[in-house]
Order: sequence, then structure tokens, then C-alpha cells
Amino acid sequence: MKSFSRFGSLLLQMLLIAIAGSSFAVAEKKTYIVHMDKSTMPTSFADHIEWYDSALKTVSDSGDMLYAYTDVIHGFSVRLTADEAKSLESHPGVLTLLEDVKYELHTTRTPEFLGLDASSSLFPDSTTASDVVVGVLDTGVWPETKSFDDTGLGPVPGSWNGECEVSKTFNSSSCNRKLIGARFFSKGYEGAFGPIDEKTESKSPRDDDGHGTHTSTTAAGSAVTDASLFGYATGTARGMARHARIAAYKICWQGGCFSSDIVAAMDAAIKDGVNVLSMSIGGSVTDYDRDSVAIGAFAAMAKGILVSCSAGNGGPGTMTLSNVAPWITTVGAGTLDREFPAYVRLGTGKNFSGVSLYSGKPLSDSSMFPLVYAANASNSSYGNLCMTDSLIPSKVSGKIVICDRGLNARVQKGMVVRDAGGVGMILTNTDAYGEELVADTHLIPTAAVGQSTGDAIKKYINSDAKATATITFGGTHLGVQPSPVVAAFSSRGPNPITPDILKPDLIAPGVNILAGWTGAVGPTALKEDTRRVSFNIISGTSMSCPHVSGLAALLKGVHSDWSPAAIKSALMTTSYTTYKDGKTIQDIASGRPSTPYDYGAGHVSPVSALDPGLVYDAGVEDYLGFLCALNYTSARIKTVSHQDYTCESGKKYSLGDLNYPSFVVPLQTASGKGGGSSAATVVKYTRTLTNVGTPATYKISMSSETSAVKIRVEPESLTFSKTDEKKTFTVTFTASSMPSGTNEFARIEWSDGKHIVGSPIAFSWT
Ligand SMILES: *[C@@H]1O[C@H](CO)[C@@H](O)[C@H](O)[C@H]1NC(C)=O
Ligand SMILES: *[C@@H]1O[C@H](CO)[C@@H](O)[C@H](O)[C@H]1NC(C)=O
Ligand SMILES: *[C@@H]1O[C@H](CO)[C@@H](O)[C@H](O)[C@H]1NC(C)=O
Ligand SMILES: *[C@@H]1O[C@H](CO)[C@@H](O)[C@H](O)[C@H]1NC(C)=O
Ligand SMILES: *[C@@H]1O[C@H](CO)[C@@H](O)[C@H](O)[C@H]1NC(C)=O
Repeated sequence: MKSFSRFGSLLLQMLLIAIAGSSFAVAEKKTYIVHMDKSTMPTSFADHIEWYDSALKTVSDSGDMLYAYTDVIHGFSVRLTADEAKSLESHPGVLTLLEDVKYELHTTRTPEFLGLDASSSLFPDSTTASDVVVGVLDTGVWPETKSFDDTGLGPVPGSWNGECEVSKTFNSSSCNRKLIGARFFSKGYEGAFGPIDEKTESKSPRDDDGHGTHTSTTAAGSAVTDASLFGYATGTARGMARHARIAAYKICWQGGCFSSDIVAAMDAAIKDGVNVLSMSIGGSVTDYDRDSVAIGAFAAMAKGILVSCSAGNGGPGTMTLSNVAPWITTVGAGTLDREFPAYVRLGTGKNFSGVSLYSGKPLSDSSMFPLVYAANASNSSYGNLCMTDSLIPSKVSGKIVICDRGLNARVQKGMVVRDAGGVGMILTNTDAYGEELVADTHLIPTAAVGQSTGDAIKKYINSDAKATATITFGGTHLGVQPSPVVAAFSSRGPNPITPDILKPDLIAPGVNILAGWTGAVGPTALKEDTRRVSFNIISGTSMSCPHVSGLAALLKGVHSDWSPAAIKSALMTTSYTTYKDGKTIQDIASGRPSTPYDYGAGHVSPVSALDPGLVYDAGVEDYLGFLCALNYTSARIKTVSHQDYTCESGKKYSLGDLNYPSFVVPLQTASGKGGGSSAATVVKYTRTLTNVGTPATYKISMSSETSAVKIRVEPESLTFSKTDEKKTFTVTFTASSMPSGTNEFARIEWSDGKHIVGSPIAFSWT
């Protein structure tokens, strides 16, 4: 959890807890989320909670309801044995039982990089901007951070129904006109792990972790001048929507984030009146009707609330995405134009560069230190990774140790080196990370270097038994090019649940991001780290998601009548996919041009998103049609949408016709005797554009990287005579056969000479 770097150790911890827990032989209870079909509620019940209760009493006397839900789903959550769950499932009125799923958290120059500061006049500092509320589901907030300063903000919007939950560690003055709501949801977590130990964790909205303070201040924190982390990244730290209000919903605890708590928080957020929901979490789920985040997001979307989620940190492998429902905005991560260089000088005089946020006493610049590769100084088979207690002190004492990245936290490796007597660390990337550099606040002098540099240094060690080196630090560098590049960790398409919908939707800054931090732990979150900071620099799609949440809040402030789909469309169709020189945005993992499976519609470009010209709008009916195209039964549709909806039996529903701002064209490989000869496939999609600008005529243009597919758009020109007018067009793809597994890409753009409304197209032959 926390930033992606710490996944490894957490997973290990979870594993240990699971093993420890399995020795109990009593009929074990688990938490279930029970979806009820409210249309079958007998009229004899005064309200639905009484009805839920009576259903529950038929299977379990002791069954205590954890939560009764009303907005996100009709139903409740409860701890039951497997037998009780089974008999409840057959109770009339019960739609489905979902076992509680554990989700995990997937981290100031961002506003300048995005072009927000130069154009702040475009985003009026008006009351409408401060009427927007961003709800952040995360680890809570550290209310004392300066980013929650409410100076200059007017009274809390009258429509706000939220609450500031007071407890021992959170008092009423913790909330103000910036942080207008703070709640916590722990019943599901405590059901699984037992009561929260308040000695180690605040049973309140207070953030003991840092992640939630970071994400919420990224989305909508107030401007703080002279912010920095130990002098790194000095400047003004501010959220994307600095006039919007923040409501914190703490759902993640030391052991994870449980769906029963997530649904309760989304239920509350909808009732409270948030306008945008920011969720930097993900779980492994196989379909929309098994995914509480997707189900909750549907209810939010139906109420006009945009839900922005992190794409996941499973990259650079393909099909590694989370949160892919088409009613969610799925955000991948790119880099900024900022770096924190560190230099490794070898005994040969050769000088290599890497990155670091080390701030302690530097190594003596004039002396060189013996160099050793951890793999040659350990007796464990993963010795190269510098796992706890794996280094042999006599072989590393007084030396700079090379550790490979992976498995345990990067900052942990430095601790292992220090504890074994090493003086410094060179953290080297392997295949999995390529040249991607993530800077950390290491506790010993450390430079993180890319794979090719790492390989060169290892070669030097093997060729010279007396190899030496030293490490120096270069502070903060701006203007790094090329930027952005797609982060190696950012999860990639194709969409693992519905390959016909392109995901991620777009990318935003997610590498080395400076934002507010908790006072409860140091910047590395290691127990041994006693430093305390107001701001921290961390990385992950957890950090890119709240950028988009904040930008969505900015758009909502200016266009209060736009639907979540319209806001997402504006963000997507104005995104950019190339640098100023016309070259495609790079993938840092491969060093090659990236594709829509890496960046979706491209990198967010907020100033253009404000005035997109046209939008691909969609609402509840469109998404119900999408579920029909997936052949969902009425019961499954009800689980996702909690609506009574029957797909029309005569109607042909097509996944490709969902009014989405991007396209995927699945194509079949010809399987005839000729083996991939000329059999052309024809695929036709329909889309509808809504004019959100002034009257204008738009013309189509296309660019394609492949001659294997011909694209025809009809009509080729669309004239809008007024605002809100809708026009429909069709795209016909005529594709020749390609070998299975081939992916090709193209792009169509509608332009009136002033606006460009761009959509990526991915062709995939299977
Ligand atoms: C609330 O908490 C803050 C910070 O911990 C403290 O300064 C303040 O005195 C507390 N106020 C009350 C009313 O307890
Ligand atoms: C070599 O290292 C020094 C710091 O010791 C640094 O200032 C310089 O830019 C480095 N040169 C290169 C080519 O990286
Ligand atoms: C160090 O380890 C590497 C990789 O495990 C190995 O190839 C190399 O021979 C070792 N070098 C020495 C000096 O033991
Ligand atoms: C190596 O192996 C020994 C014996 O198996 C073990 O006691 C020790 O902790 C291991 N690690 C080091 C660094 O020696
Ligand atoms: C839905 O069912 C139809 C008819 O059986 C089939 O052609 C189509 O491929 C199915 N769609 C999906 C997404 O499974």
C-alpha cells in the first residue's frame, strides 16, 4: 500500500497475517455485502432497514449488520459463516452476496507544468469554483497541514450535508472552510482484523500514513509558498483546484481497505453532496458486478458525480489495469520535467547520473569508497535485492553497496546496507524498470540509476577487484526533456475486463510529486525514520489520479451543468500525445514511443479541456445499454446499477457503440486455408457529439500508422448552429487480416480551426 514502492513488504505482511489467522478451527465468519432487490420488499415493512434485518434474522441470530446501504446499493454488510451466507443467498429478495474484497492504495511544480498558473484567469476564482467539493477516499487527512489553510474561502456551500467526525484524535477545529468534511469507516476492517489498536492507529479521520493527505492536497490543497522536502522541489505547493473544498473519507487502514467500508463511504459521500470522487485504490476483481468501486461509481455517476480512479501500478506489463468501468475516469501516470540528480563517480573517473532525495551528511567528496555488488556479499539467493539481514557485514563494511530494485521497499534496502555497515548505496534498475528513476528520501547516501548505468557499474566491479566509487547530489533540476514520459509502473492496456473499451483514459503527473504529508511518520514511512516533514515527494498512479480529480473539479466549477461523461470527454479529447517537435510521448520502460494502451487519449491538458468545443456525452441509459451488450442478466444489471432494467429483446446492442471518446476495434485474424489472406473485415461504429461551444462547422481528419485498415467517417463535416446541439456520425473500419496479437493505432480529429477534438483508435487482431 502507500505508494507503489511499498507494495512488496505489505503483501508479505498480509501473507503472514493470513497464515497466522488460518489456525483457528471455529466456523469462521467473513464479511459479505448483501445486495437486495428492493422491488420485492413486502409492503408490510416500514422501511428497508427493517426488511434487511428480518432477512438477516432468518439465518443468524447473532448476525450484526455492519452497515445498511441506501444510495450505492440496496443492501447491507454483515459477518456470516459460509453456511449462513449460503442460506441467506436463497432468501427471497436477496440479489447477490459478495464476499468483502480487500483493496489497496495504488504520491510543486505540477501546476506550472500543466500550464495552469499562466492561465489562472481562465479559471475564475469565483464562488462557483469554491462550491465544488472533492471527496477523497483514502487513509484520511492530517488536518494541521498548511495545505488545508482556509484563508480567503467563503462559508461552506449551503448544499453541503457532510460531517466532521470528532474523536480523541480529531476535534471539531480540525475541519474548516477548506477541509469541510472528515469521516472514517472501519467496521469492515475491524470485522476482519479485530478492534483498531488506538496506540498504533487513529480511530478517526486522522491520517497516520501520509497517502491520504498527499492525494487530497494534490487534488484541492490551498497554495503554500516556499514548500519543499529538505530543500528539494522548492516552490509553491498547491492543489489542482485550490478553491474547491475537500471532504475526506478514511477507508484505508494499516491492513488495507475493505469493500464493505468503501461502499459505506461512497454512500455517505453521495448523500453529503460531493461533486467529484477521487479514489487512488484498486482491487483484483474480475467483473463490474464483483467490484464495489465500479458499483459505487455507477451510483455516483447517476447522481452527476465524476469518479476518478488510479489505473494501477502494475506496468509495464500489458493488461495490468484496475478500475476500468467505462463510467469511471481511469488515470495512468507520466513524469514531470523535474528531476533530482545524483552522480556516481567511479574509480576510473567515469561519471554516471541517477536520482536521489537524500538530505543527510554527504559522503566526503574527495575520497573514494570500495564498491561491492550485494549479490557478492550475501548468503541468500535474493542477495542482490538487499533484503533484511541478507548482507554479510564483513563484506560490506565501509563500502558502497549496489542493490537491485524490486521486492522490498527501495528505502528499506538502504537501511539494510546501513545496518550491515555499508556507507552508501547505488540502487540499480533491472529489466522490470528499465530507465525509470524514482527519487526517494533515503537514510544513507544513495543514487538510484537506470538499468544501463547499473549494468555498466556491475561490469566495472567484475573487471576490477579494487573497484571504487563515490556519490554526490545535485539538488533540483527543472526543464528535463523529454517530458512527460509514461512511467514504467503505470498500468497498461488492453482493458482486462472489456477489451473493446480503451483504458487507461489518460495520463497525468505521477512521478516524484510534492504534496502534503502526515505528522505521524517520516517521509520514508520506515519505523526507523524519525524525521517529520510537512511535504513529501512520492510516486504512483495514486498521485496522478488526484491531479485529474482536481482538474475535473475545476471544470465542474466553470461548467456546473456538465455530466461526468462530458467532463471526462473534455479532458480526453484535448489531451496531447506528442511533444512540441511532433514525436510521440515516450515510454520510459522501453525507451520507445508509447501507444494509446499506455496513455489512453494522451496527457491531460487542462487549459484546453476548459473549452473542448465538442463532447462525447453519455448517461445512465448509455451505460445500461453497455451492460446489455455484455449480455448481463437483469439481476446482474441490478447489482451494478440498482435499477430495474430489461434489455430490449429485439435490439442489437454493441460495445463499440457506447458513446466513448476513444475507440478499440477488435479484429479477427482470417483463419482460411490461405492463412491470413485478403479477407477484409468491416466494423462500423456510431458516435454522437454535443456542441458545448458556439455555432461552428467541424471537419474530420485522420492519421493512421497502419495501411492495414481503411477508415471512413460519414459525414466528413458537421455543422452545429447552436450550443447543446447534437450530431451523429459513423466510422467505418475496413481491415485486412494481420497476424494474431498485432496492435496498430490511428487517430481521428474533428476541428473547427479553433478546437481539436481528438480520439485515439486501437486496432487489435486476435
Ligand atoms: C483541537 O486540536 C488541535 C490540534 O491538535 C489543538 O491545537 C486544539 O487545541 C484542539 N481544540 C480543542 C477544542 O480541543
Ligand atoms: C559529474 O559529476 C559532477 C558532480 O560531481 C556533476 O556536477 C557533473 O554534472 C557530472 N557530469 C556528468 C556528465 O554527469
Ligand atoms: C558477483 O556476482 C555476480 C552475479 O551473481 C557473478 O557473476 C560474479 O562472478 C561475482 N563476482 C565475484 C567477484 O564473486
Ligand atoms: C547467512 O547464513 C547464516 C547461516 O545460515 C545465517 O545465520 C545468517 O543470518 C545469514 N546471513 C548473514 C548475513 O550471514
Ligand atoms: C452476447 O451474446 C451474443 C449472442 O449470443 C454474442 O454474439 C455476443 O458475442 C455476446 N457478447 C459478449 C460481449 O459476450
